[in-house]
Amino acid sequence: MKFNFDENIDRRGTHSVKLEKMKALFGRDDLLPLWVADMDFKSPPAITEALRKRVDHEIYGYTVAPDAYYHSITAWLAKRHGWQVNSEEITFVPGVVKGFAFAIDHFTGKGDKVIIQPPVYHPFRIVTTSLGREVVNNPLLLEEGRYRMDLDGLRSILSQQKCKMLILCNPHNPGGRVWSPDELRELAEICFDHGVFVVSDEIHADLTLPGYRHTPFATVSENAVSNSLTLMAPSKTFNIAGIVSSFAVIPDKKIREQYLSYLEPRELNQGTLFAYTATTAAYEQCGEWLDEMLSYVQGNIDLVDHFLNEQIPQIRAMRPEASFLMWLDCHGLSLSRSELTKLFVDRAHLALNEGSMFGPGGEGFMRLNVGTPRNVLEKALNKLKKAIEG
Ligand SMILES: Cc1ncc(COP(=O)(O)O)c(C=O)c1O
Repeated sequence: MKFNFDENIDRRGTHSVKLEKMKALFGRDDLLPLWVADMDFKSPPAITEALRKRVDHEIYGYTVAPDAYYHSITAWLAKRHGWQVNSEEITFVPGVVKGFAFAIDHFTGKGDKVIIQPPVYHPFRIVTTSLGREVVNNPLLLEEGRYRMDLDGLRSILSQQKCKMLILCNPHNPGGRVWSPDELRELAEICFDHGVFVVSDEIHADLTLPGYRHTPFATVSENAVSNSLTLMAPSKTFNIAGIVSSFAVIPDKKIREQYLSYLEPRELNQGTLFAYTATTAAYEQCGEWLDEMLSYVQGNIDLVDHFLNEQIPQIRAMRPEASFLMWLDCHGLSLSRSELTKLFVDRAHLALNEGSMFGPGGEGFMRLNVGTPRNVLEKALNKLKKAIEG
C-alpha cells in the first residue's frame, strides 16, 4: 500500500466532535471513540498539499467557485458513478444536513408529512420534526440479516395519507445497503405517482466496498430525475467533514430554479475558499487513495466479522456494502437498552452509537465506526469480549 492507514494519530486538541462531545453524550471521557462518522485516517496528501499551497499565499479573500471545481465534480460523477451532469446542475450547499433542511423548508409546509425509512441517519427525523413537519415511518424490512425497502408498505401508507416528501439514504446509513437500480426505480415510480418529492442523500456514494456499485437515484428513470434532488459531498469519502464541502446535483431545471430561489437570496449557495480547494484536489487527485482506503476498511470489516463469529457469537455484524459503519445486532446478548449501554460504555469502555437513536428497528443494535487503524479495532474487540465474559 502507498498510504499508511495503520498510523495512530492523536486527535486531542483539535476540537474533534468524536472526543470533545464524548463526556456530554456518554457520561465519561475515557472511552475508545468509535461513534461519530468521520475516520481516524489522515486525509489524502494531495488535499493537504493543495490547502497548504493556498494557505501559503496568505490572503484569503472572497473567492468565486473556480471552473475547475465544477469540472472536478462532473468528471468524478461520470467516472465513478456513470452519471453525466453539467456544471450548471451543481450548487454548493453548506452541509448535507442543511441541504435537506433547506429542501424541507422550501418544498413542504408546516404540518406536512415527510417519509423516512428507519432505522436511518437520525437527523432525517430530528430536522424534519424541528421544522414542524410530521415524520411518517416506513420501516425497512430485515430479511436474512439484510435490509430491504418495504415498497408495499410505502404504497399502503400513500394510499391512506398525503405525504409531501421522502428522504432517501442512498447508500444506507446505518445498514450499509447499496440499493439496487430496481429497488430505486420502483421507489421512484411510487413517489412520482403519489406526488412525493424525493431528497436523495448520497453522502456515502463514493464509499461502496469492493464488489458493489452505487446507483445515483436520479439516474434510474425519467420520473426519478424530474422529481428529486440529490445531495453529495467529498466529506465522508476523504475525511474532510470539518471543511464543509457539500453540493446538490439537480439536473431538472424547474426543481433547480426552485431550490436556488431559496438558496440564492440567503447566499446559502456561496461556498468557501477551502471547500473549493479541497473538493477540487480530492476529485482530481485522490481516486487511488480512496481505493486503498476502501480496501483497508474492507479488511477491518472482515476482522470484526470474523472476531465476532469466533469469539462473541451473541453479536452478529451486518456486513456493509458501503461505508465504514458496521451495524451490530446485539439481540443475542438478551440485554435491555440500558444494560447494553452499560456493557459498552461502563464495562468495555467503548463509545458506539446506540441503535434506537436511528428510529424504529434500531433497538438492540449498536453502530460501530471501523474507519480507524486496525490495532484500535483489535483493542476494542478484546475489551468487548472481556466485558461480556465479566
Ligand atoms: C446519511 C448522512 N447524511 C449526512 C451526513 C452529514 O452530512 P453533513 O456533515 O454534510 O451535514 C451524514 C454523516 O454521518 C450521514 O451519514
